[in-house]
Amino acid sequence: TAGGTREAIDPVRFLSNHSSGKMGYAIAEAARDRGASVFLVSTANLPDPVGVDILRVSSTAEMQKVVVKQCETADVLLMAAAVSDWRPADVAEQKMKKKSGEDKWNLSLVRNSDIVGSIEGKKLIKVGFAAESQRLKQNARKKLKSKGLHLVVGNDITAEDSGFGSDNNRVVLIGIDGRAEDLGLLTKYQTAYRILDKVVSLLG
Ligand code: PMT
Repeated sequence: TAGGTREAIDPVRFLSNHSSGKMGYAIAEAARDRGASVFLVSTANLPDPVGVDILRVSSTAEMQKVVVKQCETADVLLMAAAVSDWRPADVAEQKMKKKSGEDKWNLSLVRNSDIVGSIEGKKLIKVGFAAESQRLKQNARKKLKSKGLHLVVGNDITAEDSGFGSDNNRVVLIGIDGRAEDLGLLTKYQTAYRILDKVVSLLG
C-alpha cells in the first residue's frame, strides 16, 4: 500500500497526512524487479509503475476492502501507507458553511479499523511501518506486537533529509526477535530492496 488515506469531511474537505506514496511505490518497483507479482493499493497520484497491478483508493475503509481481498491470495503484505486512525463521524453531503460569530468548530471523529492488524492469514507475511517522532525503536516494537507483524520498519519522521515526500529514507528494521538493524540514509528504492531481503528470508 502507498500514500496517505483521505477521510472526507464534506465534498471539498478531508483529513489526511503528508505521505506522498514514494515509499510504497519504491517497494512495489523493487519487488517487481526481484520477480514478484505485485498489486499496489494506492492513494497517490504518482505515475503507474510498469508491470505492477494498481488500484487507487481514497479512504481507509476503501483501502481495507481491497487489501482484505488481495490478502486472500497474497504471500506478503507490505503496509507503507500512512493510514488515518480516525475519520469524521459524519460526512456532510453539502459543503459546510461558516456561521457568523463562530470562532471555534469541533469535529467529531470515530476510530478506523486497523487494516494490517485485522488481516488474518496463516502463511501471510505482514510488514508494517511505524512512523515515529519520538522513541522510534520502543514504539516500533510495540506496533510489531500489537499489529501481529513479522517485521516492522521504524521510520524516524523528524529527520529533515528523509521521510515524508523525500526520495530518501532512514529506517530501522525490527523483526520478531526484537533485534534492530539501522539502515542509515538510503534512497527509498534501496530501502525497499533491504526490506525485501528480510522478506525473502522470512519466506524461507
Ligand atoms: O509516502 P512517503 O512520502 O514516501 O512517506 C513514507 C512514509 C513516511 C509514509 C512511510 O515510510 C511510513 O512510515 N508509513 C507508515 C506511516 C504510518 O501510518 O505509520 P503508523 O505508525 O500510523 O501505522 C503503523 C502501521 O499500521 C503502518 O504500516 C500503517 O500502514 C498501518 N495502519 C495504520 C493505521 C490503520 N488504521 N491501519 C493500518 O494498517
